[in-house]
Amino acid sequence: MMETREHAGVGLGRQLDFRSSYRFGRTTSETCPSAKGRLPNPEEGCGATDQVFNNNMGLGWDLTAALMGVHTLGRAKIENSGYTGWWADAENSRKFNNNYYVSMLSKSWKPVSVADNALKNQWDRNDIGKTSNGEQHEMMLNTDLCLAFEFGGGALAGAKEALGASQCQCLWLRSPAFSSLNSDTWCGGDRGSFGQELGNCCPTGGSSCDSLSNPTGVAIDTIKRYANDEAAWIEDFKRAWAKATTNGFSDLKPLVRTTAMLQFLPRGQRCKSGRVGSWGNLGKGVKQEQCKAACTADPQCEFAVFQTATKSCTSFSECATAVTKDNVMTFEKVPTTAMALALPRGQRCKGGPSVGWGDLGEGVSEEECKAACVADPQCKFAVLHTGKQTCSSFSECSETVAKNHVVTWGKFGPRRLANRVPEVFV
Ligand code: HEM
Repeated sequence: MMETREHAGVGLGRQLDFRSSYRFGRTTSETCPSAKGRLPNPEEGCGATDQVFNNNMGLGWDLTAALMGVHTLGRAKIENSGYTGWWADAENSRKFNNNYYVSMLSKSWKPVSVADNALKNQWDRNDIGKTSNGEQHEMMLNTDLCLAFEFGGGALAGAKEALGASQCQCLWLRSPAFSSLNSDTWCGGDRGSFGQELGNCCPTGGSSCDSLSNPTGVAIDTIKRYANDEAAWIEDFKRAWAKATTNGFSDLKPLVRTTAMLQFLPRGQRCKSGRVGSWGNLGKGVKQEQCKAACTADPQCEFAVFQTATKSCTSFSECATAVTKDNVMTFEKVPTTAMALALPRGQRCKGGPSVGWGDLGEGVSEEECKAACVADPQCKFAVLHTGKQTCSSFSECSETVAKNHVVTWGKFGPRRLANRVPEVFV
C-alpha cells in the first residue's frame, strides 16, 4: 500500500507509515478454518457488511467505508471468487488513492450475472467510458455500491434482484450535485446538461433506481466526503486499519527501531545547526558510551555531539552543515542494517578485504552483495567488483583508493553531509 501510495504522488507513501503504527504479538495461524463464512458475501450487500465490519469488528460505517477504499487496488477473477474486473481504471488501479469513491459516483453501473452464474452477480460499468471486457473492465460488487446507493428504495437487495426485476439497468448520478468532486469527466464524457449526461451515462438506455442527485446508500455522506477530500479518507483509513489489525488484542507492542551510533564527523567537527534543547540536554559529566546510549533512547536525537573536555552530551535532530570545534565528537544514529553508497563509484577501501576477495559471493548482483554484508556482522563495508561480480567484505575503510569497476557501500544511515565520505570515520 505504501508503494502504491507513492504512485499517487512522491512522498505520499510516508503518509501511511505502517511501520511506526505496527503492533506485534498476534499468533500466526497457518490455517484458518473458522474464517469460513465470516467474511461478507458480496451477494448479501450492506447487510453482510454491517454484520462483519460494524457488529463484529466495531468499525462503524465511516471506518468501514474507509477500509473498503483498498479496492482501488487489485481486481477480481472468476477462477478465484467468481467475480471479474477492476474497481478502478488502469491508471488508478496502481495508485492507492481515493479513486474508488470517485469511480463509484462518477460512472454508471448496470447489474450483470457473471458468466451466467446465478450465484455471482455484480455491477459492470455501463457508460461511454467503459472499455471492452477484459481490458480493465470496471465493476463494483453489491457490497461496494450499497455504501452509496439504495437499489429501488431498498426493495432490491442487489444486482441479482435488480436483474430479476429488470431495474437499475443504468445506475447513475447527475454531476451538478457533485461539483466539488475531483473528476474532470463524468461517465467518460464532459459534465454537461441533463441530456448530455444521460447520453454519456446511459448509452444503452434503462433507468436508474436511486435519486439522481441525492443517492441514499447507508454511507453516502462518507463516500461523498472521501471522493471530495483524499486527505480525509487517508486519515480515516489509518484509523480503520489500526482498528482492524489490533481488534481483540490488548497486549500488542510497537516495533523498536534497531539502531547503532556511528561516528559521523571526524573528531574536532560537530553539527552547526539542528540542536534539540539546550547544550548538555542528554547529560553532563557522562561517558562517551552513555552519550551514545542516551541518543539511541531519545526519539528526537539523530546526532549526538559529545564534548570530550566537559563530557557534555547534546542531541541534534539534523546535521546539514558542520563546524570545526575543539574537543568534540559527533555520532549519527543509523538503522543497523542500512547499506548506503559510501564511496563514489570507482573508489574502494584501500588494502585487502577482511577475509578474502569474493568472500561474500561471486557472480552476485548489487542487491545480493549488499544483503550479504547486512547479514555478516563482520562486514562494515561491501565492495563489489562490477566486472567480475565479486563481493568482498571490509571491516574498516580508513583509506580509499580509486579503481575501475568498483562500487562500495557502508553499513550506514541515509543522512550525509554534502561531499563527505562518511565511512572514513567509522
Ligand atoms: C464487504 C467487504 C468485502 C468484500 C465482499 C470483498 C470482496 C472481494 C472480492 C470478491 C475480491 C476478488 C477476489 C478475487 O477474485 O481474487 C476482492 C479483492 C480484493 N479485496 Fe476485497 N472485499 C471486501 C473488503 C475488503 C477490505 C476491507 C480490503 C482491505 C482492507 C479488501 C482488499 C482487497 C484487495 C486488495 C483485493 C484484490 C486482490 C487481488 O488483486 O488479488 N477487500 N475483494
